Amino acid sequence: MSDIKFYKEKHLPLEMHKVRIVQKLNLLPIEKRLENISKAGNNTFLLRNKDVYLDMLTDSGTNAMSDRQLGAMMIADDSYAGSETFYRMEKAVQNFFGKEYFLPAHQGRACEHILAKSLVKEGDVVPMNYHFTTTKTHINLQGGRVEELYKDKAIELVSDEPFKGDMDLVKLENLINEVGAEHIPFVRIEMGTNLIGGQPVSLQNVEDVSSICKKYNIPLMIDASLITDNLYFNKVREERCKDMSIHEIALAISKCADIIYFSARKLGSAKGGGIVVDSKEYFDNMKELIPVYEGFLTYGGMSTREMEAVAIGLEEACDIDMISHGPEFIEEFGRILQEYNIPIVTPTGGLGLHINAREFVGHVKETEFQSAALASAIYIVSGARGMERGTLSEEKNPDGSEHIASCELVRLALPRRVFTLSQIRYIADRLAWLYDNRHLIGGLRFTEEPKVMRFFIGRLEPTSDWQEKLVAKFKEDFGDSL
Ligand code: F0G
Repeated sequence: MSDIKFYKEKHLPLEMHKVRIVQKLNLLPIEKRLENISKAGNNTFLLRNKDVYLDMLTDSGTNAMSDRQLGAMMIADDSYAGSETFYRMEKAVQNFFGKEYFLPAHQGRACEHILAKSLVKEGDVVPMNYHFTTTKTHINLQGGRVEELYKDKAIELVSDEPFKGDMDLVKLENLINEVGAEHIPFVRIEMGTNLIGGQPVSLQNVEDVSSICKKYNIPLMIDASLITDNLYFNKVREERCKDMSIHEIALAISKCADIIYFSARKLGSAKGGGIVVDSKEYFDNMKELIPVYEGFLTYGGMSTREMEAVAIGLEEACDIDMISHGPEFIEEFGRILQEYNIPIVTPTGGLGLHINAREFVGHVKETEFQSAALASAIYIVSGARGMERGTLSEEKNPDGSEHIASCELVRLALPRRVFTLSQIRYIADRLAWLYDNRHLIGGLRFTEEPKVMRFFIGRLEPTSDWQEKLVAKFKEDFGDSL
């Protein structure tokens, strides 16, 4: 929690929970790590988790569950239709968002599939503060296109801008006038924005975007997958939210939106997802798609155990002690890295620590996937796996050339309540070594390149023998140490 005072310590994010169940980890020798990343085609998604020391790939479905969540799972009411568990989850969702109608789906992208299918037509344009990979793909598959209307400051990686996720209101009105409101099925705000570093959106901006949407009669959709971090930042960075409870802020945001969806792999700290609306018309239009793609309307592809856990997870999402843990640990991680002069995205956001790969490995060609090369090097030197969030995560240009991402990042996710401060210090120390030896890192090229969302399962190889050289230098400096 942010307002605890200390006597000698200057920076100490404090856990407001204790660890009662643990999982053994392995830290393999560096030669083994090199072998593993080569076998995985230099794609951290393709590593086996047993070969990973710190799994910082994502916070999706990997947050630690609370005793209350585990307890609730034991009373799940397993039935295909009319399960009591569903009604408990529905009530928790209605309470959290203050909206009446809830459609369950098995995860966030499943919601995006249903939403895109029912709302997006060929030629439509969907304005958003920033895209997310799966969201954009679903909209494109329906024949629509995405327009990102972030403020110029959003992609200045080093800044003190508290709400880089805010949408640019002038760009929004210009776009509406240019393409016509009738071609805009909805405006989407991602709270917070994943691909630019877990950066939050202010309540003020949501209200302003909502007013513009109302003026032109366009629905406002909020992707609330990462809303817990966002709510923490609203509370600590936005003056008007300082005296509001977390739930009051959530309700104020929700009031502005016509449609909300979320991945319960993040919000709710379990597994699942859902769409929330207050118009019966939307509900009726979408509900028929749920049994076709997800499962019956009272489970939507989720297991009842997970639904029970989500219901409790939503209650816990209103607790500042719970939601402050991620952002405060990330801030501390960032503070240590800055001491070592490692280029990171500032201010630190939610979800994970974001390294500026464009600067870290600026000597690697942009077309040789700087972020992916850095993610591969990080695994080799530390056993921690992060995720590439840069050019590799982009779709290529129509002419087949690389679409160079506006931000070239490596994300080291901090699933909530999972890692200790000493583990953070360990990875920070390995990053410091890697930064001092960054000239050894080289590029990557595809050996297998899928057509859609290539970052998930594509395979790459180093463009030279740089990885062997990196291992040799590591052994020179660390001897037989892991
Ligand atoms: N929206 C946002 C903002 C997300 O971060 C994600 C997932 C989704 C939608 C899709 O949800 O995974 O449940 O289907 N982000 C994960 C990540 C994959 O690692 O950042 P999902």
